[in-house]
Amino acid sequence: MAKVTVKICSGTTCFIMSGNRLNDLVEMIKAQYGDKVEVTGCNCLGECSNGHSKAPYVQIDDCIISEVTPEKLITEIEKRIK
Ligand code: FES
Repeated sequence: MAKVTVKICSGTTCFIMSGNRLNDLVEMIKAQYGDKVEVTGCNCLGECSNGHSKAPYVQIDDCIISEVTPEKLITEIEKRIK
């Protein structure tokens, strides 16, 4: 099974739109999923230039996910692992 790649946007817009809550999950995701998931922070994904109302953004594999909450992020990771 391919590793799931998660990039949490750490750009300013996402950060102030609650993205900081997602960064708090990095260690938990690493501990819970181990080698199945590679999770990193990243610079602006470029999505916020279309308006920031759907921030924060996370890229999971080739998909950009908007309005990400901690619960939504875990759900999206679980979907791809199964
Ligand atoms: S700051 Fe996150 S997409 Fe731009």
